[in-house]
Amino acid sequence: GANAMWGGRFGRGPEAIMEAINASISYDKRLAPQDIAGSRAHAAMLAAQGIITEADAQAIDTGLQQVLAEIEAGDFAFSAALEDIHMNVESRLTQIIGPAAGRLHTARSRNDQVAVDFRLWVRDQCDTAIEGLTRLMRAFLVQAEAGADWVMPGFTHLQTAQPVTWGHHMLAYVEMLARDRGRFMDARARMNECPLGAAALAGTSFPIDRARTAAALGFDRPTANSLDSVSDRDFALEYLSAASICALHLSRFAEELVIWSSAQFRFVRLSDGFSTGSSIMPQKRNPDAAELLRAKIGRILGANIALMTVMKGLALTYSKDMQEDKEQVFDAADTLNLSLEVMEGMVRDMSANRDALEAAASSGFSTATDLADWLVRELGLPFREAHHVTGALVKMAEDAGCDLPELTLEAMQSVHQDITGAVFDVLGVHNSVASRTSYGGTAPENVRAQIVRWAEVLG
Ligand code: ARG
Repeated sequence: GANAMWGGRFGRGPEAIMEAINASISYDKRLAPQDIAGSRAHAAMLAAQGIITEADAQAIDTGLQQVLAEIEAGDFAFSAALEDIHMNVESRLTQIIGPAAGRLHTARSRNDQVAVDFRLWVRDQCDTAIEGLTRLMRAFLVQAEAGADWVMPGFTHLQTAQPVTWGHHMLAYVEMLARDRGRFMDARARMNECPLGAAALAGTSFPIDRARTAAALGFDRPTANSLDSVSDRDFALEYLSAASICALHLSRFAEELVIWSSAQFRFVRLSDGFSTGSSIMPQKRNPDAAELLRAKIGRILGANIALMTVMKGLALTYSKDMQEDKEQVFDAADTLNLSLEVMEGMVRDMSANRDALEAAASSGFSTATDLADWLVRELGLPFREAHHVTGALVKMAEDAGCDLPELTLEAMQSVHQDITGAVFDVLGVHNSVASRTSYGGTAPENVRAQIVRWAEVLG
């Protein structure tokens, strides 16, 4: 038969294939708690404004609580014929309380209803991301504290560049994640306006109180333009954008974990709990979780691009295209939340191999820059000449199959006669990192100061 909600002018129901493309209930049932919260706020406001009776509002409220209880208990028969969560809830409410249910939709449309439901859902996800990021930042901070002065190679082009400290490397991720957290906080603050009451698109002639429903649902204020209210999905796009950048950061550390846990690097070891074996090669300890985290960005960025593409070029206001927002955001949020939890688990689990880090830091002529700086500082050479002299010394060491500290003073003086034995002080990796005291530099004393700052920020 025709649809009970809007079928007044329809003689029959839709083709099965029409229902297959049109119905969203299979996924938007996740919005049930938000849908019912929005409806309860709306009904209470309608009664307070004298638009419906207190008795009807009371029946609606009690009925909606029962519907929510049934859904939470897994005791609810969702129907694709009823299209979406909004009509599934209202239909069940009608069964429970009778005709009074028909008054709930006064001064409302599914257009503002879905807009408020989805905003509430995405707002919750911002909070979840903020919490997950805070926990992950704390995990990196624990690693930084443990190895504030451990020396490791710093890389550019994945080639040994200069010695840095483990603590400094861990804190680099704390900085990235703090920006991610800030993006979710900004997005949350911007989305915290309530579209309920925009009705279909033009507002309503009923004397509604939008400030009241906004406050009841924890919004800062109602949205100011009814057309924008029902056609805006910026809030979801901002969430997906912040999630994409965050997932990108996770993928970078995941890649480092993959490299660092290899037999060639041995910088870190993941416990058995975060490693997998091979069915044929008994020696293997594969970092599967890190590899998967490296890949998860694909889904999240894919969702971001998908929804951008859905919204692009849509004339105002609501179009059914916009129903395609939810699955993308649901999947991205599930993926991000899982990724944050897994990454936190791995960061807490991993143990750094201090000796391997230091041995790697000491190889590859990593203190060549310190040597060049010494020639500038102590002998007054222009930096370009110091760079040239150091290059000759690196070549000499390379030819001799040794590293810079193993060259004799005589050998060094054959390249530049004014070099003195004091040069050996700067060729050691510990002296190298200790000297990088410029603000933001890798010196252990800087790292410790930053750890104190982050410990205060994270509480
Ligand atoms: N299921 C719809 C969606 O997710 C709800 C809004 C429907 N509005 C309408 N005018 N058909 O977008």
